[in-house]
Amino acid sequence: MSEQRPELTRTDPDDISSNPSDNRPFGSMLDARLSRRGALRGGTAAAAGFVLLGGPANGTATARPVAAAPPTGGGHHRELLGFRQVDTHDEDVLTVPEGYCTQVLIPWGTPIQPGGPRWRKDASNTAADQARQLGMNHDGMHFFPLGKGRHASSRRGLLVLNHEYVDQQLLFPDGEEDMTPEKVAKALAAHGVSIVEIECGADGRWHTVRSRLARKVTGSTPVTFSGPVAEQHPELRARNRPMGTLNNCSMGVTPWGTYLTCEENFNSYFGTEDPDWRPNAVERRYGINSEGFGYGWHRASERFDIAVNPKEANRFGWVVEIDPKDPAAVPVKRTALGRIKHEGCVTTVSRGRIVGYTGDDQDGDYVYKFVGDRPWRDHLDRGRSPLDHGTLYVARFDDDGTGTWLPLVFGRGPLTRRNGWRDQADVLLRTRMAADALGATPMDRPEWLAVHPKSRDVYVSLTNGSGRGGAANPRQPNPYGHIVRWREHGGDNTATRFEWEVFVLAGDPAHDDRVELGDNMFGSPDGLWFDPDGRLWIQTDVSNSSQNLPEKGYENIGNNAMLAADPDTGEIRRFLVGPRGCEITGVVTTPDQRTMFVNVQHPGEETPAWGTPTPENPRAVSNWPDHDPEGRPRSATVVIWREDGGKVGAP
Ligand code: FEO
Ligand code: CA
Ligand code: CA
Ligand code: CA
Repeated sequence: MSEQRPELTRTDPDDISSNPSDNRPFGSMLDARLSRRGALRGGTAAAAGFVLLGGPANGTATARPVAAAPPTGGGHHRELLGFRQVDTHDEDVLTVPEGYCTQVLIPWGTPIQPGGPRWRKDASNTAADQARQLGMNHDGMHFFPLGKGRHASSRRGLLVLNHEYVDQQLLFPDGEEDMTPEKVAKALAAHGVSIVEIECGADGRWHTVRSRLARKVTGSTPVTFSGPVAEQHPELRARNRPMGTLNNCSMGVTPWGTYLTCEENFNSYFGTEDPDWRPNAVERRYGINSEGFGYGWHRASERFDIAVNPKEANRFGWVVEIDPKDPAAVPVKRTALGRIKHEGCVTTVSRGRIVGYTGDDQDGDYVYKFVGDRPWRDHLDRGRSPLDHGTLYVARFDDDGTGTWLPLVFGRGPLTRRNGWRDQADVLLRTRMAADALGATPMDRPEWLAVHPKSRDVYVSLTNGSGRGGAANPRQPNPYGHIVRWREHGGDNTATRFEWEVFVLAGDPAHDDRVELGDNMFGSPDGLWFDPDGRLWIQTDVSNSSQNLPEKGYENIGNNAMLAADPDTGEIRRFLVGPRGCEITGVVTTPDQRTMFVNVQHPGEETPAWGTPTPENPRAVSNWPDHDPEGRPRSATVVIWREDGGKVGAP
């Protein structure tokens, strides 16, 4: 315990709100939310095992499941968590519980086909090499089984994973100075999605195999558009043909077996040297400026010069559908799901219709859902995509613990011609501004969402933020984040009303006594995933501007981690701690739940806690996983299994 508590500040100074609306934040809802908590006990939330515990005098409410409450779905409560928690640490290693084994698989630069171009540890691989190798900064991921039958389906499959962005200091031998067309091409090839076929060998180790399905979808791959914003739309007419997907953060999987890769911070790839360029209102709302990430691509590629090629930016910020089992299928940007900084798009089915939940990860932005207009099978039978026909909604979290889904439909509410809206395509191209107009509730950076496999309750991680709110966003500022959950009216995920709760307030109780965590403390929840048994896996992404730093209140939390929660009892245990500088993001198991895949992203990233990687010393922060004295840190997938062959996480 530190003697002096640091003043709680924002965790990520780079994430600044671009929401100018005066939509009522959660903060103003606090009192009403608290006064309602007695009523909730007898309501649907209590039936699900939720109840709000008392808010202390400073006025926070933490929803904690009632220990004695029946588990979701009723009946005797089955133990969900069966491993011994791992301790926090700040070492350059990955740790898992006793009785578990790990294997590093497909780090950045691994050839997607065995025998492909070998990764070079001095970063001298060309753009052409990189196009045939795993990308950088592994993120959301799914395992599509290929083997037939119960056993085989869990020993061979396609691993499909996103590569969110690049660290140009680590990607190039000479770092990020002197941008060239070759460097831009290599960086684009390190983005996007990798599809690899993997198999578990007789020795129990996983490896890639030669496959007609293995491929890359990068920042340069031809793509197409579908839905209300057609490819020919004037706002999509850039100088180059439609290509590429960028900042592929989290993902989703459709019931018809496709993969949804979601474009997040697309704005930051654009820039310009033009001194007269000023962002228009839409560009401002999406955070486009003359610098972006500072990658400098616009200096070597006209495609990314926002002054010269402004419509190119409109081609990003979408959910992109990829058919992993058809190598010839062109990725499709599904415009009906809106243009935001999509973190991911988790799906479920209700009344036969597809429902997709997606968060817009920026401070003060919103939570959305897409609801298909008829059963998804009907659309497929007619040769149409279920993702092209439906309604996009944005969430408003009301004072009384209920919420409303507000439709983003041209002609309804304020989205009229009189108010300057032209048509549905216009509403979708300017999704954020339409949501502002509807009075959606600003949130503390909505990241992943997850839907409980049985109850269909929905969970969202709110990673951290400036704290524009109270009852469901109780900290101002909010450096540690929290998880909110809700139940749609009648348990129907197509409904337009819901009841919400705070599931857990993250953080260190030494710095915030509202936090009801102990040794299992964590900060900045990001990745969320329910396994088929209903274990909620929580992955953390504490920014390296805070990670391990006492002045940020993060000195006891250690490196980024993955925890497992029992949603019925509220029990949370730390399962994995990553190496230095990384975040943990992306998790899935094989169908038998005996093998888990987890991604370690950006080990070795610059951090005041450890240092700054340079071309001379790319190992300043981390040298995971190779620990080669002449190598460099690499993002990688980690395979995890139990020595006794049991289900991962289970008793
Ligand atoms: Fe890509 Fe919001 O993390
Ligand atoms: Ca994330
Ligand atoms: Ca994050
Ligand atoms: Ca991150």
